Amino acid sequence: MEKKSTNIHPIFDQLLQRSDKETQLNQKSVVLWMTGLSGSGKSTIAKGLEKQLHQAGFMTQVLDGDNIRSGINSNLGFSNEDRQENIRRIAEVAKLFLDCGIITICSFVSPTRAIRQVAADIVGSDDFLEIFINTSLEECERRDVKGLYKKARAGEIKQFTGIDAPYEAPIKPALDVVTEGQTIEASVQLVYDFLLPIIKK
Ligand code: ADX
Repeated sequence: MEKKSTNIHPIFDQLLQRSDKETQLNQKSVVLWMTGLSGSGKSTIAKGLEKQLHQAGFMTQVLDGDNIRSGINSNLGFSNEDRQENIRRIAEVAKLFLDCGIITICSFVSPTRAIRQVAADIVGSDDFLEIFINTSLEECERRDVKGLYKKARAGEIKQFTGIDAPYEAPIKPALDVVTEGQTIEASVQLVYDFLLPIIKK
């Protein structure tokens, strides 16, 4: 990406440190990066997980595809280039939350390994946990919660992930959440149990 800003003098070294904020919040912050097809259950699991973490006393923030795309990224579409820019901005935002000591739950299709690598590089791989919400295309299409697969099959939506745009499953995710045959609660619990030892002080 072309850098347009020059003559800027960031003052990161004069700011309070992340560890100061983590101590105040009594938690260790991390970016949980959920990837999966549209309709795989990312947002549902993110919401359930946030609720459970909140009840246990953790400070969290959810960043979610449809919300972010209606605000900060409303000028972006679904070409590979726009998806990359979408994820780049989100990762920068996630990093700000991370540096605030907050457990940041991101739920984005983020369909290619290259796109997720952009996010991991911005956040920093030590703080980036890739969670695969592993639901087959057949099941996502059967659920078709938003009616988008039907439209994509009818050619009314172009470049739809899984139909006429690629989805590359993670090769070695930190956690693989197979949702088929599981309740939402069980999937949320799986992620919670994985996360707890990482975020506890
Ligand atoms: S990403 O590919 O750039 O990571 P993101 O997670 O922000 O996608 O947004 C995906 C959501 O946008 C989907 O859940 C769906 O509701 C909607 N959507 C609309 N058009 C498309 C499309 N062509 N491909 C995928 N999702 C789409």
